Amino acid sequence: MKRRIGILTSGGDCPGLNAAIRGVARAAYEMFDAEIVGIHDGYRGLIEGDYTEMDRKQFSGILTLGGTILGTSRTPFRDMRKIGEDKVDKVAAMKKTYKSLKLDCLVTLGGNGTHKTANLLSQEGLNIIGLPKTIDNDLYGTDFTFGFHTANDIATEVIDRIHSTAASHGRVMVIEIMGNKAGWLTLYSGVAGGADVILIPEIPYTIDSVAEVVKRRAENNKGFTIVAVAEGAMDKEEAKLKKKEREARRAAGHFSSSAYVAKLLQEKVGVEARSVVPGHIQRGGTPSAFDRVLSTEFGVHAAELIRDEIYGVTVALKGNDIIHNPLSEVAGVAKPVPVDHHMVVTARNIGICFGD
Ligand code: F6P
Repeated sequence: MKRRIGILTSGGDCPGLNAAIRGVARAAYEMFDAEIVGIHDGYRGLIEGDYTEMDRKQFSGILTLGGTILGTSRTPFRDMRKIGEDKVDKVAAMKKTYKSLKLDCLVTLGGNGTHKTANLLSQEGLNIIGLPKTIDNDLYGTDFTFGFHTANDIATEVIDRIHSTAASHGRVMVIEIMGNKAGWLTLYSGVAGGADVILIPEIPYTIDSVAEVVKRRAENNKGFTIVAVAEGAMDKEEAKLKKKEREARRAAGHFSSSAYVAKLLQEKVGVEARSVVPGHIQRGGTPSAFDRVLSTEFGVHAAELIRDEIYGVTVALKGNDIIHNPLSEVAGVAKPVPVDHHMVVTARNIGICFGD
């Protein structure tokens, strides 16, 4: 049995992409007569016909490598059907590349945006298999995406390191954690790092409630407070605004979400507050052992699906099982943190404040 497989990585990168690519390739070479084509820079490469015929050697030595050997780009789903100044019909161009490469299927590694385009291509008749990656963990249908646990380890280490300097100086430290519109990374790293306050987009906060924590800790001779705030967190006033209005308000004041909280706390309580933005550090470097294993399992399952000619699906983790869901059920569905999620309850039960 021979299969020609295209692989691309799209959207923001994360640790574990290369481990997943390697998982697909190694299992495919083991299971059947595989030819693999690496598409460069995500859907851009598919649109422009930019690719490399890969051989086994190129999948060697990449298990621990951060980033993606294929490159990535952000090609927004909303623009896929639009014809721009270059007059390129992107969907037709992607189908043309797929056909001219004589692919049997295309494996797309990505998050929400990637899955929307993957579903579009599936509906256009291409054989697609998705793999769920993102540090944000906001993809519907899977308990965890790969990349999340590594980012969680990194964000936790950041909080740990901030902890000691916060204690020395008796300061309020506000640490901004990535995650786009979802609070998963902030919630998990906040609990792991022993934050006193966790602010996530799913639970709008009032600064008075956060200020109370700072004051109470000071009264108990704890001169420092650790606030883990998601980049997408908002206070209750901001939550009433439309996204554009909210962004304009933040932009006018040049406030990131952590700078905003630090400024409000300084005004309210008169404490010295500092904001820290670790940013893309959270996405860089080698994947954790957990993510290496998860990425490998996801990649191997994709090869099994190719062997069995099961397409139009995306791989997922449910409990301890690796499963697959129809792309049509996953595409365009976000996975915010449920406000009654067990980790929120756990955090509340050890006295962590969510600002509500
Ligand atoms: O989706 C991953 C992510 O790192 C988000 O957490 C963050 O909001 C966004 O990407 C940052 O995007 P960029 O890398 O394009 O600045």
